[in-house]
Amino acid sequence: MSLDPEMPKLIPYRRLDPSTQPACLYEPYRSTIRRAPAKPLILLPHTLSELTGPLYGHNAIGETDHDLTRQHPGQPLGERIIVAGRVVDDTGRPAPHTLLEIWQTNAAGRYFHVKDNHPAPLDPNFTGAGRTLTDASGFYRFVTIKPGAYPWRNHSNAWRPAHIHFSLFGPAFVTRLITQMYFPADPLLALDPVLQSIPDEKARRRLIARFDLETTEPEWALGYRFDIVLRGRQATPFEK
Ligand SMILES: [Fe+2]
Repeated sequence: MSLDPEMPKLIPYRRLDPSTQPACLYEPYRSTIRRAPAKPLILLPHTLSELTGPLYGHNAIGETDHDLTRQHPGQPLGERIIVAGRVVDDTGRPAPHTLLEIWQTNAAGRYFHVKDNHPAPLDPNFTGAGRTLTDASGFYRFVTIKPGAYPWRNHSNAWRPAHIHFSLFGPAFVTRLITQMYFPADPLLALDPVLQSIPDEKARRRLIARFDLETTEPEWALGYRFDIVLRGRQATPFEK
């Protein structure tokens, strides 16, 4: 393909600092043994198709998409919470108009998903999926229900700590990032191989939201602050 000489030069994205990121292979997290690449990774150059891509307009976001407690006729069961924060790059500059999507269990620790057969009740008023765009200062806010812990078959008596899955989508395909947010003071955090697969303790802590009185709304919901840093040594750990 010949590129138009008038076209602005394509600037590749800075790659993630490996010290902030989980290893592809972490044996206590058993499914990484089968899925981790056996050979060294090959870095693909960033070309036009990686550096451009789908752009999401405001129209696609519905009025209740960011509020998972208002997507059905009744109120979901459980503890209502607010999760809010900023998405910034390694220099602290906001990432505006970034699509954030979340998915999570209900308060009983069950996903609204055909493959989840954990014997915990579904909630007819909670699907557990939401999305929003960051504003001009990179700020986002969700209203939801605190998710429950759930068992998984990684090892004997294995339980995932309560968490919310996050996907971030910038302006191009290579800007999609996926991570998980955890809650402070959860005794399961120290036992969770997914979280513990991140080698740097400070990087692990960046996945734990902090209780925030500023985000908390009186008589209504506790607030948690979860800021996301896209690049650099302070980068939020992301899943491969
Ligand atoms: Fe999960």
